[in-house]
Amino acid sequence: MSDEPKKDEQLEAVTKKIGIGKIRRHVFLCLGPKCCTSEVGEASWELLKQKLKDVGLSSDADVCQRTRVGCLRICCHGPTMLVYPEGTWYRDMTPDRIERFVEEHLLAGKPIDEWIFARNPLPPL
Ligand code: FES
Repeated sequence: MSDEPKKDEQLEAVTKKIGIGKIRRHVFLCLGPKCCTSEVGEASWELLKQKLKDVGLSSDADVCQRTRVGCLRICCHGPTMLVYPEGTWYRDMTPDRIERFVEEHLLAGKPIDEWIFARNPLPPL
């Protein structure tokens, strides 16, 4: 009996599709309903997805992973957003802020200080 992990075609396909292995950042966006209304959270999420696609951060070459979540345990002043590897916590990430966030933080590498309420980069393993 072999100790080799069993290859699974479905997992291999989805791993390739979302660019695992090429991910440079991961954005978690809370869609409420405690930190913001679900409508506002959904609107921010849709804009984030579209903007990442527009600027090429969803491509195979330079991936920014995105995940919609139900709560980041802040529960006020949302939509709440968390960005790794920097560990930046953003408040009030309403739709009108998404374009600037993508341009300045994700593309230019300059987090937007006035919207950040906490920082916690993860320590190296
Ligand atoms: S509901 Fe958004 S952080 Fe808890």
